[in-house]
Amino acid sequence: MNPARRSFLRLATAISSALSAGLVGWPTLRAFLSPVFSEPAGERWIKAGEVAQMETGVPIRVDFTETVRDAWVEGRATRGIWLYSEDGEAFTVYNARCTHLGCSYGFDKDRGVFHCPCHHGLFDLRTGAVVDGPPPRGLDTLETRVEDGFLLVAYRDFREGVADKIPVT
Ligand code: FES
Repeated sequence: MNPARRSFLRLATAISSALSAGLVGWPTLRAFLSPVFSEPAGERWIKAGEVAQMETGVPIRVDFTETVRDAWVEGRATRGIWLYSEDGEAFTVYNARCTHLGCSYGFDKDRGVFHCPCHHGLFDLRTGAVVDGPPPRGLDTLETRVEDGFLLVAYRDFREGVADKIPVT
């Protein structure tokens, strides 16, 4: 075979092998490594509802789902918030996880407080302060803004069981 032709064939084979390895190898490598380099969940803005439709004077629970990744496994998780407004203009929003150990709490209409059933933590409706029980701090408030008539909430989680409000990244 002509030496020039042999060199050309060797080069073409090498390039084609490298391309094939890249096409197959890169997605596989990325799938394995992506959890290691993925960004922390941190704060994310969610649409909580249309302000004009929101009832005032009573707390409203809003749940939403989001995709979560645990190492290489992807799944769906339900998150929650409690909204409260007395005038339909100023909103107080709490993360729906109890600050003690993360249980989901409800609203006790008779007593007018939030009640966590796990260890009977009680929280004030308007301020989120601890009224009774073991929670080490008041409910975690979340930042809000109104855009195009919708209430947006900066959802994030905070460490449980500690006195300071420390964001989970
Ligand atoms: S988890 Fe809420 S009081 Fe313990």
